[in-house]
Amino acid sequence: MEISASVLSVNEEESVHTFYRLETAHTDYFHIDVMDGKFVKNDTTEKMKIYSDNLKNITNIPLDVHLMVEDIKKYVDIFSPNEPSIISFHIEAAKNKEEVIALIKYIKQYTKVGIAINPNTSIENIYEYLSLVHKVLVMTVEPGKGGQSLILETIDKIKKLKEYIVSNNLDTEIEADGGINIDNIKLLKDAGTDIAVVGTYLINSKDYRFTINKLKEI
Ligand code: DX5
Ligand code: ZN
Repeated sequence: MEISASVLSVNEEESVHTFYRLETAHTDYFHIDVMDGKFVKNDTTEKMKIYSDNLKNITNIPLDVHLMVEDIKKYVDIFSPNEPSIISFHIEAAKNKEEVIALIKYIKQYTKVGIAINPNTSIENIYEYLSLVHKVLVMTVEPGKGGQSLILETIDKIKKLKEYIVSNNLDTEIEADGGINIDNIKLLKDAGTDIAVVGTYLINSKDYRFTINKLKEI
């Protein structure tokens, strides 16, 4: 399983040092949590833009951008210059199927595209898009902040999604996001998760390489 380190809880004063530590600890991605203060109540745009600019100067490790925003195109335009390896947007922020298809096409001009779903959004809502996107970002907490506990019911959603992907011969990846730690990561792996986003549990640990290795060897 790959690890995507969420930088949401990285302390601004120590951010560059923290990014170097995460790079030498071999995180597979840096997860950039962009919040607009409308889709979710926090607004992290400025901080995430500074972090993305700094990361591009520090490392080649890919940026995994997670847009928790209403005006998706606006934020694609803000973050695409940082050349992220993927940009994921929330299905709940799109008005209808036409808009989802248009957004997928818009993002594909710049990079790979992911579709994110909240804990209470059913998996069936995105089946029709799976062949068009590279990844499904399954929220295992309510979006909006770090440090929450994983919602166990979301693990069944991942299992069901994986079954659908396999039985339809799709190669769409599954990323789980929120409240992930050493105690629950095996449940996510066994359910079919390909990438785990880890924020608080990793950022608060003393040895990043040790923590990432422990999470990956489960
Ligand atoms: C929540 C974000 C998550 C979160 C992960 O809205 O999308 O990426 O920052 O952080 P932890 O691991 O602390 O839940
Ligand atoms: Zn996220």
